[in-house]
Amino acid sequence: MKKTLLTLTALALLATTAQARSWEDIKKSGTIKIATEGAFPPFNLIKGKELTGFEVDLANQLARQLGLKVQWVTQPFDSLLIGLQQDRYDFVIASHGITPERAKAVDFSNPHYCTGGAVVSRVGGPKSGSDLKGKTVAVQVGTTYLENVRKVPGVKEVKTFPKDTDAQAALLAGRVDAWVGDKFTGLDLVKAQKGKLGAGELLFKERIGMAVKKGNTGLLKELNSALAKSLSDGSYAKLSGQYFGTDVRCR
Ligand code: ARG
Repeated sequence: MKKTLLTLTALALLATTAQARSWEDIKKSGTIKIATEGAFPPFNLIKGKELTGFEVDLANQLARQLGLKVQWVTQPFDSLLIGLQQDRYDFVIASHGITPERAKAVDFSNPHYCTGGAVVSRVGGPKSGSDLKGKTVAVQVGTTYLENVRKVPGVKEVKTFPKDTDAQAALLAGRVDAWVGDKFTGLDLVKAQKGKLGAGELLFKERIGMAVKKGNTGLLKELNSALAKSLSDGSYAKLSGQYFGTDVRCR
C-alpha cells in the first residue's frame, strides 16, 4: 500500500510537467497508441499471437469510430499508468477501477463496464470477507483487490503476484486459501476448473474506466463520445453479449 501511494503521488507530480499528444495531434497522425496488459482474461489477453479480449475489441471499435488506426502496446499492469505519464501511449484500457487515488494521477473516461472483486476458493474454502479470517489470499499487485483485501480484518497473509493468472495458479496449486479478483474472471475460472473451485461473495463493487494523461481533455471527450455511441447503437451490447452473455455496462 505504501509503495502504491508513493508511486501515485510521484505520478501526480509528474502529471503537471510532460506533454501528452493532443487530440489534434492524434487525429493528424491517423494512429492512436493504446496500452493494456494482455494477461487479464476475458478483458485483455494474448491468444496464440493475437491480442484480444473484451477491452481490446471495445477499444478497436472506438478507434474505428474515431477514424483511427490502432497501435497496441502491452506491458505489466503496475507500470501502465506510469507509461501514460511518460507519453509512451495515448490511453490505457486495462480494467482500472476508478478510484480517488488513481484519479489524482490520471483522468478517467466514463466507465466502460461495472464489476466487483470476488472471492474464489477450492471447494469447501472461504467464501466471504469474514471467512477470510486467518486465511492466506492471492491477489495481483497494484490492484483494487489488494487494496480491499487489506481492509478485511483478520486476514493472515496477502500474497501478491505480478500477474493475476499467477495468483489464480497459486490457488489451484493449494499455496493459498483464496483468490480475490474480478467477478467475471472468477466465473470463467470456476467454470474452467469444473468442480474444483467455488465462487464466493463480492467484497466490493467498482466502475472500470479508460485512463488518459491528466489534463488531456480533448482526447477524453472523443473517447467518451465514441463510447456513448457504442453504448447507444447496439455495438457495445453485442460485444458484451459475446464475452459475458450479458450486458456489463454500468447502470
Ligand atoms: N479492476 C482491478 C483494479 O482496478 C484489477 C485490474 C487488473 N487489470 C489487469 N489488466 N490486470 O485494480
